[in-house]
Amino acid sequence: MPRVRFKFVQSTGSAFQPFQAERRYFKIGLAWLGVVAASTLLAHTALYAADDSVTRGARIFSANCARCHGSHGKGDGPDLVKLQSAVSPDDWTDKETNRELTDSFIISMITKGGKANGKSHVMPAFGDKLSAHQVDDLLAFIRSLAK
Ligand code: HEC
Repeated sequence: MPRVRFKFVQSTGSAFQPFQAERRYFKIGLAWLGVVAASTLLAHTALYAADDSVTRGARIFSANCARCHGSHGKGDGPDLVKLQSAVSPDDWTDKETNRELTDSFIISMITKGGKANGKSHVMPAFGDKLSAHQVDDLLAFIRSLAK
């Protein structure tokens, strides 16, 4: 058997055959790379398109607020216990509760903090840390949570 196979390879001839095979794989590899690159680009574009105020607000919330307000905005973040907070923030997913909070109160709480609003000092002021746009995005995100 091995002898037969050897003959076959010889008869089709070229010592380049292995190289040709390699070139073909290289081309297939390149084509795949193209497909992967194109789909990554598409996914990126789709993400960018969906990057509206609420999406941006969600990201800002996760980075700055979730530790106290909870990852879903229910007012149950882990740091409240750590800071021995006497009060819990509101559950923003509750429709009635969310509706009772005015835009100006939410914005004032975010920018000036709890103490300046006659509320808990545990709620920090973010006026120096976040831009007005970012505060608007947070407001949009908070409103989007109401169910
Ligand atoms: C260190 C903990 C902590 C962090 C971080 C924090 N908060 Fe608060 N926040 C509180 C507490 C506690 C209250 C409740 C204050 C009260 O009722 O006296 C509160 C209250 C609020 C309120 C008033 C309505 C409510 O839920 O009681 C808003 C609006 C608010 N926070 C938004 C934010 C946003 C937006 C961020 C992030 C940019 C943030 N907070 C980060 C602790 C925090």
